[in-house]
Amino acid sequence: MALQRLHDPVLEHDWHAVYLASELKDQPVGVIILGERVALYRSSRGVHAMQDLCVHRGAMLSKGWVKDDVLVCPYHGWQYDSSGQCVCIPAQPKGEKIPLRAKAVTYACEEKYGFIWVCIGEPAAPIPHFEEFANPEYHPLPCGPYKVAAAGTRVIENFTDFAHLMFVHQDLLGHPDYAELPDFQVVKEEDRIYIENIPIFQPVAHSGSDKSEGTTYVYMKEVYRPLSARLSKADPSNGQTLWIMLTVLPVAAEECVVFMMVSRNYAYDVDDANFIKFQDIVFEQDARVIETQKPELLPLDLQVELNHKVDRFSIAYRRWLKELGVVVGTV
Ligand code: FES
Ligand SMILES: [Fe+2]
Repeated sequence: MALQRLHDPVLEHDWHAVYLASELKDQPVGVIILGERVALYRSSRGVHAMQDLCVHRGAMLSKGWVKDDVLVCPYHGWQYDSSGQCVCIPAQPKGEKIPLRAKAVTYACEEKYGFIWVCIGEPAAPIPHFEEFANPEYHPLPCGPYKVAAAGTRVIENFTDFAHLMFVHQDLLGHPDYAELPDFQVVKEEDRIYIENIPIFQPVAHSGSDKSEGTTYVYMKEVYRPLSARLSKADPSNGQTLWIMLTVLPVAAEECVVFMMVSRNYAYDVDDANFIKFQDIVFEQDARVIETQKPELLPLDLQVELNHKVDRFSIAYRRWLKELGVVVGTV
């Protein structure tokens, strides 16, 4: 299917996690951000992103290779440096000038939290720093990426939702007998929405917890960009805390890739793979429901779906998207 470049006044200027840093090695790779094909590669000076399109005859640069820190097009071997400038046209007689117009479009690209991040516009702000995901002491673990056939906005809304834990994640993160939610306040600030101190009963405690039975975790959840959110869940009896960051790459309006990170301040002797496996199971349960939702695009008109007062966080999220002017993944 032909790709359609999506325009969005907010998401184009956001940083998006697009690839696992550990997987970007010597070979360039191609990703899709808002319908735009982007080539990523690693040089001795770091990571780089450029439009996945050779200005010569439109071949995909991500199918090429890296040689002496420059990206080589697989078709006629033109070479691009990290500023996007073409520095070698092999078919051209030696000593002739390379046309200045022979230049690829480059994008801001950074490595943080074990992910490669790209902004295809002008970055409106730096990638936020969260100590719990940056400090190795907390064993930050990348999970996924998970491909989802749904709008990224639906994924973030699901992440903010508590009332599904007892059903979608029954016996893992909640139990139907404990479905009633406490009264809670959503706090809206200029660049984030959050809630805190939400107790939720969980029938089986976390891997590595000293609780053999279920326990009540106290949650904080925050959406800090239209497609990025994080949470913490703490056991108040012992201070054991698990953090999760979730950030969504909008590939198309109804297609996304979810990057997740978990970290913790306990159970360092438990195999990290257990924590990743748990997120794989939980996210699969979420995706199975999210992919069935209609309308596919998140309705920002609050009359379109039945919004209940228990959906306060989701209502605040929809209002914020509207205020910001996010158009991709919304209707
Ligand atoms: S298409 Fe890339 S070098 Fe010709
Ligand atoms: Fe969920």
